Amino acid sequence: MTDKPTSPTTEGSDPGRRRVLAGISVALGGFAALLVGVPVLGAVLKPMVQKEPRVWRKVGAVNDFKIGQTVAVSYENGGTKPWAGVTGRTSAYLRRDTSTAFTAFSVNCSHLGCPVRWEQSADLFMCPCHGGVYYSNGDVAAGPPPRPLAEYPVRVNNGDVEILTTPLPIDGRVPKAS
Ligand code: FES
Repeated sequence: MTDKPTSPTTEGSDPGRRRVLAGISVALGGFAALLVGVPVLGAVLKPMVQKEPRVWRKVGAVNDFKIGQTVAVSYENGGTKPWAGVTGRTSAYLRRDTSTAFTAFSVNCSHLGCPVRWEQSADLFMCPCHGGVYYSNGDVAAGPPPRPLAEYPVRVNNGDVEILTTPLPIDGRVPKAS
């Protein structure tokens, strides 16, 4: 009888040591995956569970606006971080209806979110993307938009006009100010 030849790769190796090294390798891989995965998962899930704070933002003094005129105003979002810069700003169309009443519309078309343009001479909001048209009260006049322009709560506070910041509503309905 002849002896069975041994493999040169396994000759002299220690299976126990290999198992330990494999275990360390798996543990380090798992630790690295946790290190990368937890912050990524947190960044993805956080906006779903944490609501953006709603804050009243001043957009100008009452007398800065003429009755009957619609103008674009810009302001800082509610949950803006100090490092956000210009990306933390948003805008709306503001109309002074009477000496004390204002209406604010979202600049985003209710179709796919393109910024609409106010055409004073036509008394219409126009969307450049797919030809959506809105009446001055925000109702759809023509084109593919499924809903009127979203309206934001506005108030007059100590002579200033303030808009309540809120994320753009997916269903077109901005929650009422509480
Ligand atoms: S995004 Fe305005 S009509 Fe399509």
